Amino acid sequence: MDTNFQQKTEQYRAAFEEALAHYMQGARFRPAVLDASVRYSLENGGKRIRPALMFAVTQMLGGKIADVEEFAVALEMIHTYSLIHDDLPAMDNDDFRRGRPSNHKQFGEGQAILAGDALLNEAYDICIRQCYNGKTYIDAAALLCGNAGGRGMVAGQAADLYYQLSGENAGRTEAEFIVLNKTAKMIVSAVTVPAVVYGADENIVGILSEFGKNLGFLFQITDDILDVTGDFAKLGKTLGKDAAEEKLSYVQLFGLDKSNEMADNYRDLCLRFLAQLPYDAAYLEEMVRAIRARQS
Ligand code: IPE
Ligand code: IPE
Ligand code: MG
Ligand code: MG
Ligand code: MG
Repeated sequence: MDTNFQQKTEQYRAAFEEALAHYMQGARFRPAVLDASVRYSLENGGKRIRPALMFAVTQMLGGKIADVEEFAVALEMIHTYSLIHDDLPAMDNDDFRRGRPSNHKQFGEGQAILAGDALLNEAYDICIRQCYNGKTYIDAAALLCGNAGGRGMVAGQAADLYYQLSGENAGRTEAEFIVLNKTAKMIVSAVTVPAVVYGADENIVGILSEFGKNLGFLFQITDDILDVTGDFAKLGKTLGKDAAEEKLSYVQLFGLDKSNEMADNYRDLCLRFLAQLPYDAAYLEEMVRAIRARQS
């Protein structure tokens, strides 16, 4: 893999960890168990792909990471809360996350629900404070929150659960609704927030939004493939969950070969949208290829 790509990814990761550490230094939750459970999930790694995408688009547009880093923290908080709740017995019932016991295995279900709630509310707190920076920040905050809630990630999670075991004759339309909402819209936020912050014209925001949607599909289809073909040591989460829980995953619906073909297609669509941008998108192109090839 391109060493420049790896270096940049490492820089974005370090920049994000610093921003997160800075924010969390000033935040102390009580009681101590809440503080511990929030930090257990938030500060324990993860790939930090959404912040890396946000920072890469920021630099592509000629901006500074410092202008958007609090939005990256908010987005990663919402993502982390979604994973804590996703692993609960009432949802996917997964005992492992990021190579460690899931939050509820460590702190109990009640505390895990509350850690997720605390993270969601903290993210909104950040977004509201960002609005003091002016109108474009208000628009960016509204976009980020809209894509996370009942018209975004939460809607996708609700549909994911609804079609699991539902016995309804669900197919491609339903699977696309699930993926667009549960995964793609959070990735759309990552790549469009910087453009909105800098007041980029509608056409640019539109291209980035389409890029983000297609990247979201690529990301989730590779997740569905890795659920079958992946390695626990690399993924850090239980394999075979989608079949065991009778999920409407791409592999369950289309089989492995067709899912791989569809992932290739989404990769090509992502590259095509990037080519429409009047900027140097070399890093984002590499990111698309890395997501197609990912093992973790
Ligand atoms: C997992 O997201 C949930 C999906 C949308 C498939 P990531 O694979 O980005 O999880 P972390 O943050 O790296 O653990
Ligand atoms: C999760 O999808 C998407 C979220 C919004 C949390 P999955 O349920 O497939 O994610 P994993 O495989 O548990 O990470
Ligand atoms: Mg799930
Ligand atoms: Mg899951
Ligand atoms: Mg999965």
